[in-house]
Amino acid sequence: MTSNPTPINLKMLLESQTLKRAPFPVPVGWYFIDYSENLKAGELRNISVFDQEWVLFRSESGDKVGVTDPYCPHLGAHIGHGGKVCGDNVRCPFHHWEYDTDGMCKAIPYAKVMPPITKKQAILRTLPTVEKYGMIWSWFHPLCEAPHWEMPYIPEIEDATGYTGSRRGSWTANTCIQEIAENGVDVAHLKFLHNAPGIPPVSAAYDGNQMRLDIGNGYIVGDMFGPGLNVMRFNQKDPVTEKVITATMISYSVPVTHDTTQMNMSFRHVDYAEGSPELAFTKKQIDHMIGAAEGEESAGFESVDFIVWNNKRYRPNPLLCDGDGPIFPFRNWFKRFYVDADLSKI
Ligand code: FES
Ligand SMILES: [Fe+2]
Repeated sequence: MTSNPTPINLKMLLESQTLKRAPFPVPVGWYFIDYSENLKAGELRNISVFDQEWVLFRSESGDKVGVTDPYCPHLGAHIGHGGKVCGDNVRCPFHHWEYDTDGMCKAIPYAKVMPPITKKQAILRTLPTVEKYGMIWSWFHPLCEAPHWEMPYIPEIEDATGYTGSRRGSWTANTCIQEIAENGVDVAHLKFLHNAPGIPPVSAAYDGNQMRLDIGNGYIVGDMFGPGLNVMRFNQKDPVTEKVITATMISYSVPVTHDTTQMNMSFRHVDYAEGSPELAFTKKQIDHMIGAAEGEESAGFESVDFIVWNNKRYRPNPLLCDGDGPIFPFRNWFKRFYVDADLSKI
């Protein structure tokens, strides 16, 4: 009689059949909506982010921006189809009810008495929206909680002088922000996917909504402020001038749906003199980050990461080895941005 072979771990082999690309809701946070210059005074348009449609508008005076749910609380007309900006408000096309950027009903032209709730609270869902860094930002929380944190000061993009860089980019990835951001702590992939010369050391520190990442003992220092804003500073010694030059990648990703992300980036650096070796070096650094530098062995994100992001599935129980970066602490931290919003309980 032969003994039974050692039982195999079937879960290891079959789990992939149950995997999803991104099994998470849209995370809570501040998110880029558009560049301020793209929304003129009095303009209104429909946008798709956070797994739904919204109406984006700018007041006629130009100083207020609103992001509202599209469906009017009166009889459900879509405000973004035929609606209009009137002063500081957006007006529904159907019966001309007006709402301000906080979703308060400001006018019902034919009502003798305003419904009492309109005096107490917003009746149209809007997202808290501000303009910062020359961009429009909205706070997304599935249960309409007020912002949990403020957006940080970023000198490279906020200071009037001293910095420059007009280079911006936008890419779509078929995955969620958590999967994209996990690349930061996954230092092993830098060697194998990006052809970096080795696997750099990494440390990640977490503080509330923030994560500070240090890759290669100060070579890349990244500060993530919730899921929607990541400031990465690449510090590299120019072999010619022997100076450490910093190039900054400001990344602001938006969940278009729970499993599709629009990645947006601005690249900034010190305003070096035209023709200087510092300027030449920092431009090369930026080409390198994107993956467009000539004559380089290693590859930036554009050329290689998307192939993985667009096709992978999230493994909740990955099999890690001792050379992997601190992936589990990162995932534990990121959980804080998910809210279980069971709308049937409201
Ligand atoms: S449905 Fe919008 S005002 Fe009536
Ligand atoms: Fe990568």
